[in-house]
Formats: sequence, C-alpha cells, structure tokens
Amino acid sequence: MKQDMIVILDLGSTENTVVAREIRDMGVYSEIHPHDITPEELNGLDNVKGIILNGGENRVVDGVAVDVSPALYDLGYPVIAIDHPTAKCAQKLDALPDEATLKKFVFDECKAEPNWNMKNFIADQVELVKRQVGDRKVLLALSGGVDSSVVAALLLKAIGQQLVCVHVNHGLMRKNESESVVEVFQNQLHANLIYVDATERFLGKLEGVKDPEEKRKIIGGEFIRVFEEEARKLDGIDFLGQGTIYPDIIESGTKTAKMVKSHHNVGGLPEDLQFELVEPLKQLFKDEVRACGIELGLPPHMVYRQPFPGPGLGVRCLGAITRDRLEAVRESDAILREEFEKAGLDKKVWQYFTVVPDFKSVGMKNHARCFEYMVIIRAINTIDAMTASIEKVDWDVLEKITNRILAEVENVNRVCYDMSPKPPATIEFE
Ligand code: XMP
Repeated sequence: MKQDMIVILDLGSTENTVVAREIRDMGVYSEIHPHDITPEELNGLDNVKGIILNGGENRVVDGVAVDVSPALYDLGYPVIAIDHPTAKCAQKLDALPDEATLKKFVFDECKAEPNWNMKNFIADQVELVKRQVGDRKVLLALSGGVDSSVVAALLLKAIGQQLVCVHVNHGLMRKNESESVVEVFQNQLHANLIYVDATERFLGKLEGVKDPEEKRKIIGGEFIRVFEEEARKLDGIDFLGQGTIYPDIIESGTKTAKMVKSHHNVGGLPEDLQFELVEPLKQLFKDEVRACGIELGLPPHMVYRQPFPGPGLGVRCLGAITRDRLEAVRESDAILREEFEKAGLDKKVWQYFTVVPDFKSVGMKNHARCFEYMVIIRAINTIDAMTASIEKVDWDVLEKITNRILAEVENVNRVCYDMSPKPPATIEFE
C-alpha cells in the first residue's frame, strides 16, 4: 500500500468506522487496529502518518480499562485521543472531533497526503495480487452479488485467464440475474467462467421442505457441494478469491469491539480443498466497493444492486417451494423493480422485494371464482439491517405495481403491502 495512513486504535468505541470513514472521505486512507497492537506491529504497517486513540463507552471491558501500550507514544507519530481521558498524549478531545479539527490533525500535524482514491487502490491491489499469485490460478465463486462481481473484475485485471470463476445458478436467482453474469463476465470481459445450471438439483432437494432453517441449510450445503465438485474437476488451483469486505472483518470482532456476527463467506468449504485466500477488497467499505466496481467498468445495475440473500428467492417463496409460486415471486419481483426504478425509488429505498406465501385465497377472474396465491410487497429502509422501517410508498405507485402484478403474473389474485418494521418482523420472511 503506497498510500498514507492514519491508524485508529480500537478501545471499544462504536464510532471507529465513523472516524475511519470521515478520514477516507478526506482522501486519506485509514485503518482500525486493535488497541493492543505492539510497537513492532505498528511499525510494520506501511506509511503510517498518525494515530487516533478512540475510547468511548466500551473502553472498560469486564471491569478492566483497556489501554494501549505506553511504548506507542514514543514511536514519533502524532497522537490524538478521543474520549480517552487517561491517554498519555497532549491532545485529548471529549467527544468526536468536528471536521475542521480532524482535518487539522490529519493534514497539518500528520502531514498526510490526500492520495487515497480508487485508481491508486486498484493499481496497488493489482500489483499485490500479481505478487501473491504469480503464475498460479485463483478460483472464485461468482454469485453476481456486488462483492463477488467487483472481486472478479479486479482479479481479472490483475491475472486475466489465471482466474477461474464459477457461477452456480441454484434456480433461485432473480429474473435475468444469471444471464447478466454470463453476459458481463463471459461475453463482455472474456473471463474464464464456468456456468453451472443446478436448478433441477436444488429444486429436487428442496421438494416438500417447509421449514425455513432446513431450506437454508439445504441451499447452503448444496451450494458448497456443487462448488466443490467443480473445483475438483480443475487442475492446479492454489487460491480461492473471496469478496470479504472491511465490515466483515470489523464485525467479526476486534479484541475490544463487541462481536456483531461471525465472519463467513464461501466459508464451510472442506479443509482438504486447501486454498490460500485472495481477498483484495478486505479494506473497503461497501460504498467504496461500489466505487471500485464502477472504476473497473462494471455496469451500474450490477454495482448498485440491492442486497440479496444467499438462499435467494428460496426464502421468499414461503414454505415448501413449488415451481408455480417460485415463478410468481420472480415475475412480481421483476415488476416491482421495474416500477421502483421508473419512480426513482430504486435510489431511495434500501431493499424491496416480493414474497409469495404458501396458501391461496378466493377471488374472481373473468366473472368466475378463482382460488389463487397472494403477492406481498416489502420495501424497507435501514442503515445496518439490524433494525428497519418501512418505506411509505406513494399510493399511485403501489396501485400501478398491484395492477401490473394482477394482470401479468399467473396464479395471483391478491397483492398486499407489508407495514411491519424490524423488530418485531425481520426484513426477510424466512
Ligand atoms: P433479516 O431477515 O435477518 O435480514 O432481517 C437482514 C438482511 O440480511 C439479508 N439476508 C441475507 N444475506 N445471506 C445473505 O447474504 C443470507 O442468508 C441472508 N438472509 C438475510 C436480508 O436480505 C436483509 O438485507
């Protein structure tokens, strides 16, 4: 990494990422490290220009105040402490600094250069990946999600045909999603892409399975088996590419931060596959991953794609999956996305989708009684997906979507809008 860096030492504050983000937004690279980093480890980091000790409410863990090694103060870096009254540096703030104070520290005292940008980041990573991989090969599970797509584009730029991408279509993708992965990566970027249509295999395994957890387990487990089978067919693969991003690392818990969730990616691959990992995005926040994707030339629809659960439409076709209801979810979801885009809501709403429950209700079509499925629309806003509020979608937009679904989607006679925030409801239904 050739770019100047401000190191934030994590004393348990929940605001570490806020400070790191602010510094990166000033064009200076910033990383969060554990408070008990040794002076040797700190000196081993590239281009450190200054240190921020970030205290906060969690600074006392199990009754013991956590602190940094006193030797860190003697390394010669400018140090500032936020909400850490016992810090042994001259500059102590009581609260998070305002932009001007932070800028003064970063540029005047640390003399950091604003050289953090996507062009430099990509150039750095291309060089690092080339060095790590040499003339060997990298395998990548390319789901078509933002992270795996951006990793694929970056690795392609670094090592070209030494990258082998595997796209497993589990039959639970949204409309045209697998087609788009093939179009972009195989036809436009000429990546070495293995496309596996495993629809029948997944739907076969899922037949009659009602329990949401059981469904998730089958989809996750089967995904790994299909991927492993493809990997074993290939010769000479030494590396596994992963779309790990910075929040995955932070949320896995540094030593002082409370653990939010364990970090897992394609994880669960059998150990005897013995891959070394290549994770070129592991320093990026989500919006930086998107900026990286755009810089690498990926289409905006791929880069600004809304979050989509690993088990795909499988958890939106409620209960035991049937082909008719799966089709109803896929088609209604496509209509919802099209209409949200037309109304400009795709840029405003965090996540929106449809689900189809496994029961029917009575209705009337062509003057005759019908007994058909229901589509439920859900549109939510959130910052971290831990809590969520509903989007108050304009009535006319909802009416148009409803009319289109009723007219265009087979086996559906009713459309509802989900008004439930999280909690008590979760974002997904299963
Ligand atoms: P819940 O339903 O727990 O969802 O409120 C929170 C967010 O996580 C997404 N989600 C998943 N993402 N794999 C994923 O990568 C999964 O298995 C999964 N399940 C839920 C969900 O879409 C929402 O954004």
